[in-house]
Amino acid sequence: MTIDTLHLDLGSRSYYVRIGLGLIDNAAREISDLLVRPKVVIITDETVAALHLDRLTAALTRDNIEVSSLSLPAGEATKNWRALEQTVEWLLAEKVERDDLVIAFGGGVIGDLTGFCAAILRRGVRFVQIPTTLLAQVDSSVGGKTGINSPKGKNLIGAFYQPARVLADIGVLDTLTPRDFIAGYGEVVKYGLLGSAAFFEWLETNGPALAAGDIDKRAYAVRRSCEMKAEIVARDEKEHGERALLNLGHTFGHALEAATGYSSRLLHGEGVAIGSVLAFDLSQALGLCSQECPSRVRAHLRQMNMKTELSDIKGELPDAEGLLALMGQDKKVQAGKPRFILAREIGSSFMAEDVDETAVKTVLKQALDRR
Ligand code: GLY
Repeated sequence: MTIDTLHLDLGSRSYYVRIGLGLIDNAAREISDLLVRPKVVIITDETVAALHLDRLTAALTRDNIEVSSLSLPAGEATKNWRALEQTVEWLLAEKVERDDLVIAFGGGVIGDLTGFCAAILRRGVRFVQIPTTLLAQVDSSVGGKTGINSPKGKNLIGAFYQPARVLADIGVLDTLTPRDFIAGYGEVVKYGLLGSAAFFEWLETNGPALAAGDIDKRAYAVRRSCEMKAEIVARDEKEHGERALLNLGHTFGHALEAATGYSSRLLHGEGVAIGSVLAFDLSQALGLCSQECPSRVRAHLRQMNMKTELSDIKGELPDAEGLLALMGQDKKVQAGKPRFILAREIGSSFMAEDVDETAVKTVLKQALDRR
């Protein structure tokens, strides 16, 4: 399989996203042009370390690159102030200099945390993303959103800080649990829903084979998702407009993640999937799209064995008022009001600034009543 190369065009902060098989084993060659001295530091988590760190370390040391690594506990709870301090202090103890390269080797949590550490260490050191989950390969590793969570909400502390390169080795996806893989697929579907009916149709046809391990279809889905993301980020790096569309399903999803304590009760991609369904329910309730749209979204996600309903979340949830209050802490809040990404049809979304709160509450009540 050939390696695909996408260029994220951001002037002096431009970089390549490489997608394919064997990128980890060829990591030394893939990053050699970025090295000022033969030394890198790797931030990873314990799960990824157990599965893949030896391979990455061997690939680098084989080319006489000095490697040291820090493994943090896996999971969303690691995206916090304590882990940020621990990681930054470790990087300083490792004497990482401005020209050195930090590697984020893991899923979205490791990518976001490491990117933020890189942004603030010595006022900015370069970092490379080597994403190991589907979610990170199609979304979080590309575009330079970095940060940690606050007890007050998700991703509320952070910076836009672009990586120097992204190496998406789709071979590592084989070791994901089916639940993690399919949660990441929520972000893949998002691209079809927000901007490409043709891609959504392709996923309806090819999604099951892709999930069953078809490597060419996986490569296409990752490439198409990254392509769409790269185009949007190049036009709106700091999310003054169009980039907000990438948050389709996230206003509802983040509230659900907060309601479930960022725990394994609901993975981020699962929250995005349920949130996307709710965003289409809301669009339909507001008369923006036909009933067929949310039905088709549900049908495809169900076909992929994904969570689509609040009843798919185990345990208690707050009532509609409570969920609405959690949305008040979303990053997209403006003048205290959450903003929603709504849709006119599949593949055509837009940002709505002034959504009737009663309609949102009704959609949430109806979703809760179906539990
Ligand atoms: N994950 C949404 C974005 O990068 O803008």
